[in-house]
Amino acid sequence: MTTTAPDIDPRVFTSRAYADDPYPTLRLLRDYHPVYRNPLTDQWMITRYDDVCAAFRDTERYSAQPNALGIGAVFGPTLMEYDGEQHTRLRNIVAPEFVGRKLEALLPIIERNSMALIEKFTEKHARRIAEEAARTGLIDIVDDFATRLPLNVILDVLDLPQDAHDLFHEWYPAMMNGIGGPPDVRAAGIKANAEYHEYLDPLLKARSREPGDDLISRLCVAEVDGRRMTPPEIKSFASLLLVAGAETTDKAIANLWYQLLANPEQWALVRDDPSLLERAFTEMMRVHPPSGGQSRRAIVDIPFPDYGVTIPAGAYVNLSIYGGNRDERVFADPDRFDVTRPDLYTGRALRAGYHENGRASHLGFGLGKHFCVGYQLAQTETVIGTRMLMEVMRNPRFAPGSHPRPIAISLDPWELPIEFDPV
Ligand code: HEM
Repeated sequence: MTTTAPDIDPRVFTSRAYADDPYPTLRLLRDYHPVYRNPLTDQWMITRYDDVCAAFRDTERYSAQPNALGIGAVFGPTLMEYDGEQHTRLRNIVAPEFVGRKLEALLPIIERNSMALIEKFTEKHARRIAEEAARTGLIDIVDDFATRLPLNVILDVLDLPQDAHDLFHEWYPAMMNGIGGPPDVRAAGIKANAEYHEYLDPLLKARSREPGDDLISRLCVAEVDGRRMTPPEIKSFASLLLVAGAETTDKAIANLWYQLLANPEQWALVRDDPSLLERAFTEMMRVHPPSGGQSRRAIVDIPFPDYGVTIPAGAYVNLSIYGGNRDERVFADPDRFDVTRPDLYTGRALRAGYHENGRASHLGFGLGKHFCVGYQLAQTETVIGTRMLMEVMRNPRFAPGSHPRPIAISLDPWELPIEFDPV
């Protein structure tokens, strides 16, 4: 790199300032250290859009095995930590349940049915919760809505009882926090996961004998290459679905509301034309999605001749979603939340990176083989839930005295109180 490259103080990555606003540091990394080694942790970080895309796609040289250290340690092994055939086998069982990828030829039919299922659950819950909220005139988008809707939806998809909602509402953040937390938090996550698995045991037995129409039943009987998923595989996957389905989408809902209310001119556009909500969701997933990066491990030495560095075999590498999503080489004025932005791809085939006319996908759902299984579910429930809330809230605004901010997956407590005039 150039000799004028500013030094980065690696302590910044564990600072409060970075947690609150990582973007100035990520910009420095993109400009001067696009493939950066943190000398304190010996871990690497890739921050430019093109490089992040290339690394996500390059499953020959980057392994997803680090997912075993956090997610796997709490939930048990899941497809997220597997590479190659082992990953493909499990993914082929579960991915079609959400987007109908299993039978390529029947994709349109399966997709329509999947979406109908998703929309049925989402509409039902969104309407119920939205109506309850409408009586108050004040809603904490986080506790009253965002952390409820996706959980309810995934409980229905798994056919788990809604009356145990409060139990699940306690379990899923504990499980999520356990992934990256200190030892006591990790232990609490493992305990919550064990309780959840114990809860599932009799259900798995019953549904293997008499499968219903729910996802757990389908996982119990699905066969790929003549082999069924084992009960531990099903339970770990049910953990992943509970947490991935609830913990990320809750932040997506809250972040969409944050961005809309923090940018009144954008709110006005969406309020006057709610069909812009899908674009608004996609732009939120670019400007500040729930997940800031994914971890990989270098399988071999990975040279970057343009930057004069080589990631050594065995090293841990963070593929920075936040870094790539705000790369000014790809997105003009990248810090701006703009639902009409012409350089962002807003169609469905998000896995592709670049699209026609140079439009680029956001990286909020990852890219390549591990691309998020639930991306359509997440988008659908966020858009429908938000639209239904909009219908019952006139003039929504941040509650006076509150400290609104966008949120990422973290151990921090969070809230987003919003005042509104009932319609
Ligand atoms: C806005 C909400 C969501 C965000 C930000 C999100 C983000 C992500 C990301 C970044 C990955 C890639 C992981 C990697 O490359 O290592 C991923 C994978 C995954 N997501 Fe999501 N997700 C969301 C919603 C959901 C939902 C609703 C579900 C389930 C219904 C889900 C299930 C999964 C699964 C199973 C994987 C693993 C796929 C694989 O390893 O092949 N996600 N998600």
